[in-house]
Amino acid sequence: MISTNVPQIGKEEIEAVVKVLKKGVLTHGLGAGPMVKKFETNFAKFVKTEHAIAVNSGTAALHAALLVAGTKPGDEVILPSFTFVATAEMVVMAGAKPVFVDIDPKTYNISPNEIEKAITKKTKAIIPVDLYGLPADMQPIREIADKHGLSIIEDAAQAHGATYKGKPAGALADVACWSFYKSKNMTTGEGGMITTNNDEMAGNMRFIRSHGEKKKYKSLMLGHNYRMPEIEAAIGCVQLQKLPKFLAKRRENAKRLAEKLGKTEHLQLPKEPKGYKHSWYLYTVRLKDTKQKERDMIIEKLRQKGIETGVYYVCPIHLMPYYSKFGKYRLLETEKASKQVFSLPIHPGVTAEQIDFIGETVLHLLR
Ligand SMILES: Cc1ncc(COP(=O)(O)O)c(C=O)c1O
Repeated sequence: MISTNVPQIGKEEIEAVVKVLKKGVLTHGLGAGPMVKKFETNFAKFVKTEHAIAVNSGTAALHAALLVAGTKPGDEVILPSFTFVATAEMVVMAGAKPVFVDIDPKTYNISPNEIEKAITKKTKAIIPVDLYGLPADMQPIREIADKHGLSIIEDAAQAHGATYKGKPAGALADVACWSFYKSKNMTTGEGGMITTNNDEMAGNMRFIRSHGEKKKYKSLMLGHNYRMPEIEAAIGCVQLQKLPKFLAKRRENAKRLAEKLGKTEHLQLPKEPKGYKHSWYLYTVRLKDTKQKERDMIIEKLRQKGIETGVYYVCPIHLMPYYSKFGKYRLLETEKASKQVFSLPIHPGVTAEQIDFIGETVLHLLR
């Protein structure tokens, strides 16, 4: 089976983990062990921010970011429904109400126009998501946020290596949240990072990461255990070094697949608009003018041929049972996309021959 995403782990990661284990420093009381510090310094350099705070998941990163943005009960936070559930889940965890808005059907990212319409006196923050690795349209979102005095927390969980108007993803946000889950462009197994240029927010996120402590057993604020273990940070340092190579291979695979799939009119292929650099975390195509049943049939036939696909996301968050209590929504573009998209494997382990096989199989099934 050619899988959608597979962690790319080599002997360098194994050696780095063994080194940490032999040294015996597995974690640090405040989450700032030597490997974590090194990983933070290197990641901050990579995304060109002042601060990077390592945590133990992308979900934790979102929670800490929402808390330092001052999110509290009674507040509203605007976000897309077409994203992984953690984006909305952490809004609820912070005590606020998620307000879902529709996407731009060409990029699948949150529509700036729809954001503006959803703003109320209670709005506290906006969470644009860089879906599939394509940055959200951050310039108009920044302008809206500034006009209304809102914070932007960018969910960059899928965007390692992506750029927007020449700057790394996250550059126009107040805080950006990253994930190193096993499927991501770079992984630590589980793990996350928060990046920001705001000194005060960075300081507070470091406290929140470890029970609100600046010094052990003297909590200044409410926090959590969001510390990243040293083993994970060691893996992260190696993966970050390898990331440019991973990204280049993803890009090469995406280009080769696009050349094949460009031969059919039935598919909407992923775009890389001018001024954007895609991270190619997911190569998501849309089966135009079809019902969900037909899309699902293609997926099943691809599985039978040994090609795994994923549907991100098959159930938009506003239609999930738990989230229906936050309001009745009709998000037409989101709902339509969820029935028509599927993602094909282009990760760095996929060979050129496999890309050709995937392309030809898809073309054959659409004939
Ligand atoms: C868009 C998005 N947001 C948030 C997350 C949560 O990250 P994690 O799984 O590291 O908690 C993920 C990853 O799974 C994601 O893809």
